[in-house]
Amino acid sequence: MDKYVSIKDIEEAALQILPKPARDYYKSGATDEQTLVENKLAFQRLRIRPKCLIGVGNCDLRTSALGLEVSLPVGISPTAMQRMAHPDGELANARAAQAERTIFTLSTIATSSIEEVAEAAPDAIKWFQLYIYNDREVTKNLVSRAEKAGFKAIALTVDTPLFGIRRADVRNKFTLPPHLRLANFEGILSTKIQSTGSGSGLNTYVENLFDKTLTWDEVKWLRSITTLPIIAKGILRADDAIKAVEAGCSAILVSNHGARQLDGVPATIEALPEIVEAVRPYNVEVYLDGGVSTGTDVYKALALGARMVFVGRPALWGLSVGGQAGVQRMLNIFRTELEYTFQIAGTPTVADITKDMVRHESMYCK
Ligand code: FNR
Repeated sequence: MDKYVSIKDIEEAALQILPKPARDYYKSGATDEQTLVENKLAFQRLRIRPKCLIGVGNCDLRTSALGLEVSLPVGISPTAMQRMAHPDGELANARAAQAERTIFTLSTIATSSIEEVAEAAPDAIKWFQLYIYNDREVTKNLVSRAEKAGFKAIALTVDTPLFGIRRADVRNKFTLPPHLRLANFEGILSTKIQSTGSGSGLNTYVENLFDKTLTWDEVKWLRSITTLPIIAKGILRADDAIKAVEAGCSAILVSNHGARQLDGVPATIEALPEIVEAVRPYNVEVYLDGGVSTGTDVYKALALGARMVFVGRPALWGLSVGGQAGVQRMLNIFRTELEYTFQIAGTPTVADITKDMVRHESMYCK
């Protein structure tokens, strides 16, 4: 794995290896993919302002999320159907998170079950990503299984009344390969991702089974059926962040779903400051995902108030090139880049990274 020196190296290798339907499914954003590009460009518009002669012998990347320590401020976001990337899929991804002492988030629509992941990576910090199904018994069952299996939080995805239009999936008439199933379900719910002939089978699945009538009341309902902390995943506005907190969420994940839902929404690093500001009076953590591909991206998000960042596609690329070892390599590239950034910027620990460490490029080009 040493030949991969950047996340981009891993991505390029993965794109060579993956079969077209999986490759297109993993890399696509919504419609024209403007936000997909912006998620990355917006990081580049921020400049780091290093401090000199600080004394950085005590460099330490550790932080905590919801009370549990992680070895670096980068965790793994939920992405569906990981066995299309590698035969061990979610199990390899969770084992990598366990080995690197960070968080793994399992998707509701995974190709490995809650129980299989718990068994494969008993010591990983595991969060469960929840989609609320029309059938509340199905939903309740997922939550209680995650609790029983030792998952530490529910990441409730709030940006998905239906799936966005991903044109490549429509063209490919995306379906789950026949040897795979949605492992958290039995029977029809586990195999129903079949194209109806007119487009993506995944969109049809979601339109038939996910509840698009959801409101903040369902978050309160979820709060009433679980003792686990709830993270609202997919928030892009200050007022929604406050509604999430008022409905009982313990944390906010600023996310645009990897730019896969609605094109034209802000890059997540652009949306982060207003959300951090809005929830300042409350005791909640704020995280970010979307377009993070270097240690300096992570650093900029921390400076603007994220407690941690998460990565979706980089883990899929790591899985594709080397299963567990590939994901570990991906995390260790972030670790190395962060160690360099923390030290050269003159902020050796997470607590040292204050808002003044970054500035928007426009401040330099007046
Ligand atoms: C996702 N994402 C996602 N989110 C979620 O809540 N449940 C899911 O099942 C999935 N599935 C999924 C599949 C694929 C292929 C991608 C790329 C993304 C969104 C994901 O959790 C995360 O928000 C983004 O991936 C973050 O952006 P980056 O790191 O991929 O740029």
